[in-house]
Amino acid sequence: MNDFDYLGEGEVYLDAACQSLRPRPVIEAINSYYTEHNSCGERVKYKWGVETDEKVEATREKVLKFLKLSGRKYTVSFTLNTTYGINLILSQLKADCFKKVMTSEIEHNSPFLSTMAFSERTGLPREVMKRNEDGSIDVSAYDFADAVVVINCASNFDGRKLVNIKEVVKAVHKAGGIIIIDAAQAMAHSSDILHGVEPDAICFSAHKLYAPSLGVIVWRDELATKMDVGFVGGGMVDDVKIDSYLLSAEGKERRYTRFESGLQAWGEIVGLGAALDWLDKLPKSAWKNLEANTKELYEFLAGSNKVHLVNSKPNPTMSFYVEGLDSHLLGSALSREDIMARTGYFCAHYYLDHVLHLPPLIRFSLGLHNRPEDIEKVKKVLAKII
Ligand SMILES: Cc1ncc(COP(=O)(O)O)c(C=O)c1O
Repeated sequence: MNDFDYLGEGEVYLDAACQSLRPRPVIEAINSYYTEHNSCGERVKYKWGVETDEKVEATREKVLKFLKLSGRKYTVSFTLNTTYGINLILSQLKADCFKKVMTSEIEHNSPFLSTMAFSERTGLPREVMKRNEDGSIDVSAYDFADAVVVINCASNFDGRKLVNIKEVVKAVHKAGGIIIIDAAQAMAHSSDILHGVEPDAICFSAHKLYAPSLGVIVWRDELATKMDVGFVGGGMVDDVKIDSYLLSAEGKERRYTRFESGLQAWGEIVGLGAALDWLDKLPKSAWKNLEANTKELYEFLAGSNKVHLVNSKPNPTMSFYVEGLDSHLLGSALSREDIMARTGYFCAHYYLDHVLHLPPLIRFSLGLHNRPEDIEKVKKVLAKII
């Protein structure tokens, strides 16, 4: 695709699950912020600031549209990344509103560790739920009464989805709990799993969605009633006295400021808006190409009796190890051929190392930038090495 024309001849980037490549229009949007209206948002009355405000506001609306959520119920706040967003919520939740914290075994360290820290801070017990091979959770096996549930809706090592997400969210709400969805891996290629679902918060990283480095928290307005305010500063207040302040977030209009203390990454927010426009206009053929590349590579790996795949079905993110080969050495060998892939446990140490007892793995994560010739090259190089 022309939008990734900066990729060198023969360079194959297979680390989209970490950071997707940014298409040209996104890079241009960031450049236009720096060269045409480099201003602070929210506080600035001169014309550059007005343009920044308009674009930042438009990005909030595009995020809601992308997720098919209503601005009457949900607010979009910007932060650093998924990890920061989850921690920002958990670290301010009022302990006396809850009885326990729950997560699942296939989580990235981001929810896995932050739920541990929440449990340590509040003294509430923590429970780690099992995930079925299809990614679902058996809701009848768990008591969600007054629980804080933090789980992903797509994994970062095999793309496994929380296929019964609607049932899980319903069960948690029925029992009086709240649920925070880690959508870091779902947003780029399977955001439809979030449609028609109304969790208490969705956290994701724009850098995995063809956008610049940025975190997003999409949160239900009632969540604020279960939170203390513990992270404060500029941009959040309407009035300040010698030992008190009035938060702007108390009114609906600037509710997003609750998670946005200090200056924001205005250029990156503008870039996220451009990425959502780019995705919106993407031809069907781009998705078909990703699907075909995924199938081709998955079938090649599944067809080798030396390759042990974690995936049970094709997904743009696939992890595996090759019998008798150290994955880190294999990763270096691929790198010498200009094939960029990740090795190790991809921040899912608990499940991959201590539940499945797997050796360090190699992960191929495809994106919309990949061309069929990339897959042919990977197959050829791997076949030679194996
Ligand atoms: C499922 C999942 N959750 C959370 C994260 C953390 O994202 P970040 O490092 O952008 O905070 C990742 C990153 O790969 C992820 O894949």
